[in-house]
Amino acid sequence: MTAPELSNPSVKTDSANQQSQVLPERFPVICIDGPSGAGKGTVAWRLAQSLDYQLLDSGALYRIVGLKAFEAGLLGADGSKTIDEAALLQLTQSLDIAFELNNTSGRIDIIVNDERVGEQVRNETVGGYASKVAVFPEVRQALLQLQQDMATRSGLVADGRDMGTVVFPDADVKVYLTASPEARAERRVCQLEQAGQVADYQAILTTIKARDDRDENRSTAPSKPASDALVLDSSALPADVVYEQIKSYCQQQGICF
Ligand code: DC
Repeated sequence: MTAPELSNPSVKTDSANQQSQVLPERFPVICIDGPSGAGKGTVAWRLAQSLDYQLLDSGALYRIVGLKAFEAGLLGADGSKTIDEAALLQLTQSLDIAFELNNTSGRIDIIVNDERVGEQVRNETVGGYASKVAVFPEVRQALLQLQQDMATRSGLVADGRDMGTVVFPDADVKVYLTASPEARAERRVCQLEQAGQVADYQAILTTIKARDDRDENRSTAPSKPASDALVLDSSALPADVVYEQIKSYCQQQGICF
C-alpha cells in the first residue's frame, strides 16, 4: 500500500499575530477497536485496501512481545509465571519490529530483528501471552511511538483495543466492533473446522472470556469504546454488512472512497 496524495497539508493561521504556522502534515486515521473475533481484522483489511491506506495490526505487536517473552522464559508454559517486569521491558525495547504487506497471503508480514515471523504468532496460545504482557504500562509505552509513527506517512487503518482511546485520540473515525463471546466462539469453531482441525466450543468460549476479562479490566488502556466511537455489534451480522455499515459511517465522517 502506498501513501495517498494529500492535496491539503494542515496550514493554520494564528489570528493574534497574523503569522502562518505550518503544522506537520496530518493523514486520516480510522480506528477499529474491539475484542478478538469480532471481525475487526477483516474490516480493517478491506478498508485499507479500498482506501490505499496503511494497516496497523497492533495486536501483532503485543503477540510478538508475548511470544518473545515466552521464548525468553519470562512466561510459564501456561503463561502463569510472575513476570519479571524489568526483563520484559528490556526485551520489548530490544525488538526492532517492521510490517510488510504480503500481497500473496493478503496479510501483513511481521519482521522482527530482520527475521520474518511465521503464522505461529496468530494462534490462541500466543494471543494469551500477548494479553498478559499487554497489561504492563511500560510495555505499552515502549510500543506507542512505533504505532503513532505509522500515521505520519499515509492514511492509516488501525486495528486494536486502545487505538481510539490512547494511541490516536484525534482519529477521524473511531469504531468499536464487538460481538457476544458465544458468537465469536462459534466463528472460531467454524474457522478451525474448515482448516481440518478439531475444535472444542466450550474450551474456546472459556479462553475468549478470560482474555476479554483481562483486556477489559486492566488499569492501563483497557479495551473499551472511545466516548466518540460508533459501537457496532456484529453478533448477528454477516461480514459484508458489517463492512458496508462501517464504510458508510466513514463516509459520513468525511472519508472519501
Ligand atoms: O487483536 P489480537 O487478538 O491480535 O490481540 C492480542 C492481544 O494483544 C489482546 O488480547 C490484547 C493485546 N492488545 C492490546 O492490549 N492492545 C492492542 N491495541 C492490541 C492488542
